[in-house]
Amino acid sequence: MSGSEPLFQRVAVIGLGLIGGSLASAMRRNRLADTVVGSDQREEDLHLGQQLGVIDEAAPTVADAVRGADLVVLAVPVRATRSVLEQVRPALEPGAVLTDVGSTKSSFVADVEAVFGSQGALVIPGHPIAGSEKSGIRAANPDLFANHKVILTPPDNVSESHLRRLQALWEGCGATVLTMSVAYHDEVLAATSHLPHLIAFSLVDTLAGEDENMDIFRYAAGGFRDFTRIAASDPVMWHDIFLSNRDAVLRVIDHFTHDLEQLRTAIANQDSATLLRVFSRAKAAREHFSKMLSGQAYVTNNSAKQVRFRLQPGGAITGDIRVPGDKSMSHRSIMLGALADGVTEVKGFLEGEDSLATLQAFRDMGVTIEGPDNGFVRIHGVGMHGLQAPRGPLYLGNSGTAMRLFAGLLAAQPFDSELTGDASLSGRPMGRVAEPLRAMGAVIETAEGGRPPLKIRGGQALTGIHYEMPVASAQVKSCLLLAGLYAEGSTSVTEPAPTRDHTERMLAGFGYHVHRDGATASVSGGGKMTATNIDVPADISSAAFFLVAASIAPGSDLVLRHVGMNPTRVGVINILRLMGANIEVLDEREIGGEPVADLRVRSAELKGIDIPEDQVPLAIDEFPVLFIAATCARGRTVLRGAEELRVKESDRIQVMADGLAALGVETTVTPDGIVIDGGQTIGGGTVNSHGDHRIAMSFAVASLRAAGDITINDCANVATSFPGFVELARETGINIKAEGSE
Ligand code: S3P
Repeated sequence: MSGSEPLFQRVAVIGLGLIGGSLASAMRRNRLADTVVGSDQREEDLHLGQQLGVIDEAAPTVADAVRGADLVVLAVPVRATRSVLEQVRPALEPGAVLTDVGSTKSSFVADVEAVFGSQGALVIPGHPIAGSEKSGIRAANPDLFANHKVILTPPDNVSESHLRRLQALWEGCGATVLTMSVAYHDEVLAATSHLPHLIAFSLVDTLAGEDENMDIFRYAAGGFRDFTRIAASDPVMWHDIFLSNRDAVLRVIDHFTHDLEQLRTAIANQDSATLLRVFSRAKAAREHFSKMLSGQAYVTNNSAKQVRFRLQPGGAITGDIRVPGDKSMSHRSIMLGALADGVTEVKGFLEGEDSLATLQAFRDMGVTIEGPDNGFVRIHGVGMHGLQAPRGPLYLGNSGTAMRLFAGLLAAQPFDSELTGDASLSGRPMGRVAEPLRAMGAVIETAEGGRPPLKIRGGQALTGIHYEMPVASAQVKSCLLLAGLYAEGSTSVTEPAPTRDHTERMLAGFGYHVHRDGATASVSGGGKMTATNIDVPADISSAAFFLVAASIAPGSDLVLRHVGMNPTRVGVINILRLMGANIEVLDEREIGGEPVADLRVRSAELKGIDIPEDQVPLAIDEFPVLFIAATCARGRTVLRGAEELRVKESDRIQVMADGLAALGVETTVTPDGIVIDGGQTIGGGTVNSHGDHRIAMSFAVASLRAAGDITINDCANVATSFPGFVELARETGINIKAEGSE
C-alpha cells in the first residue's frame, strides 16, 4: 500500500485483545489507515498497546475513539457488544463504517438493531477465521490474518464503495475475503466450528465424569487426543458463542443427534450395510476436503491448485509399463454396479478425478462403495430402484461423460437432482442430451445455451423413443440407453458413425440385453441387472501419449501392458500405423467382454497423411497427441470432420494450434480440423493447456523433439484421467518435473 492513499483516515479499534490488537498492528504496518486509535476498558492493555506500537493513539473512552473515525471496528466479547454499541452511537460520524470481528453474526445484527433501530447500509459485520492459542494484546501479531479467510455479511442495501474499502482493508492484511448472508454464515459456522467444539467438550466431560481420577486419560490414544484438542479452548468464549448462535446450533445438534442415533441402531442391529455406507462416505468426504483445503483453514482457492510442468528437451522412451485404467469403463462400472442386484467387484478402476466424481456421486445417492484401493472397488448394488435423493447438487468436476450419462439415469429417478461441474464443464453443451431426454418425457432445465447446471425433475414416466443422433457421440448414445432402462417400451439410438460401445458391452455383462442392428442399439425398459466382476483394462487414450512418445523419440523401445483394444477405440493405432509407426500388438485376449493386448512400440520415421474421416470418432480423444506426431512427421497431415474437438474439455483444435504457435510451429486451423506441415522445429517456450489434461500431456510428449525447454501452465487437471503421469513419464525417459500442488 505504501505510496498510495490509505484506505481510511482514522480507524477506531474497540477492544484490544488478540484479534483487535492484531488487526490494529496489521493496519499500521501495511499503512492501511492514517491513524489507528484504540480503546479498551482494561487501562493497562490500552497503554501496553501504545507502548508496543500496536496503536497510534490511546483513547480514554469509546466515544473518544469513535469521534472523527471513518471506520469503527468492534473487537469486544459477544456479551459486551450491546453496551459498547450504546457508547458508540452518540459519537459515530454520519459516513462512518461500523464493523465487528465476532464469531456469530445474527447476534451482532440483533444488537445493532436494538441500539440503532435498524442495521443501516454502513454496518458491515465481519468474521476473520483466524486465532491462536495465545490471547491478549501481548500476542498481537500483524501476520495473524495472512492466508486466512475473512467472512463479511453485508446487508442487501450495503453501500458498495464502503464494502469495497473494507474488503480492501482485510486484503491489505493478507486475508481472502468472502461475502455471504448472516444466516448462512451462522449455519456454516454452527456446523463446521461450533458443533465440533461442543462434541469435544462433551466427550471429554463424559469420560472425565466416568472416572473420578481421570485415570483413563493415561491410556488415551492419538485419536482421542486429536479429536479432543479443541476442548481446551476458552470456556467463557464458547459459552457466549453457543448462546449467541443458539438457533443454528440447535438445528445442527438435532441433525447430528439423529444421524448418531441411526448409527446406534445400525450397531445394535448389526446392520453392516449402513455402517459401511456411512463410514465410506465420510472417509471419502474427509479425503476430498483435506485435498481441497490443502492444509489451510478455509482455503478453497483454486490458485492453490496451480500445477506447472517443466520439460527439458530430448530423451528416448524405454521400459515396460501399464498406464491407469480406462476412464470410460471406470465410470460405467460404478453406474451399472450401483444399479445391479448384488455386489460387484472392479479391478483396475481409474483413480482419477473424473471417475472418482462419479463414485462420490453414487455414494451421495446412498450406494455403499468400498475403495478404491489400488484400483480395487467393491460396489454394493442397490438395484434399479434403490438410489436415494442426494442431499445437495452432485458436483461432477471436469467430467462431461459423468454429466451426460447421469442426465439419462437421473431423468428416470423418483427424486429431483442437480448436476454441476467446474468452469470447463460449465461451458460444455448439454442440449444434446437434454433435448432427446425431453422427447422421452424428462423434465430438465439447463442454463443459457443448454449449458450446465442441469436441474432434473424426478418422478417423470419416460417413454422409449427412436433417436437418430446428429453427432457421433458415445455419451449421447449411452445417456439415452441408460434412460431407456427405465422407459416404457423400447429406446433405440442410431449413430452416424461407430462410437465406443462400452455401455452396450457392460450392460450385457450385467445381464441386460442390448439389441444391435447395424448402426442402431436398443434396449427395452423395465429389466434388471445382476452384479458381476469387472477387470478394467489400461486406457488406450492414456497409452496414446506413450505410443506417440516412443514413435517420435529416436532410440525408443517400449512395452505397454494390458491395453484396452476395443475396435471402437483403436483409431490412434490405425492412424499412427498409416503414418508409418512401428506398433506390434502382442498376446491379444478377451477379458470380461473387452479385447485387451500388450503393445510394443519402437521409434519410426513418421510421414504426414490425410486422416481418414471414419477414424475420427475412433480416435476422438487422441488428436492432441496425434498433432504432435504430425508435427514430427515428414510431409503434410490434414484432419477434417473433427468439429467435435472444439467442444471437449477445451477447444482442442484452437488450443493445440495456439500451443504449437507458442513453440514456433505454424499450422492452419479450419472449422472442422487442422493442417500441419511436419518437419518444423519445435522451439522452447511456454504453453497454456487451458486446464485440459490431454493438451498438457501432449506438449509434455512434444518436448522429446523440442529444441529448448518447455513450460506448460495449468496442468492440475491431468489428475482427471492420468494420476501419476509425471512419475511414469519420467520413468520412461521424458525429462519432466511438476511444480505446485496437485
Ligand atoms: C466418452 C465419449 C467421448 C469421449 C469422452 C468419453 C465416453 O465423448 O470424448 O472422453 O466415455 O462415452 P463423445 O461421445 O461426446 O464424443
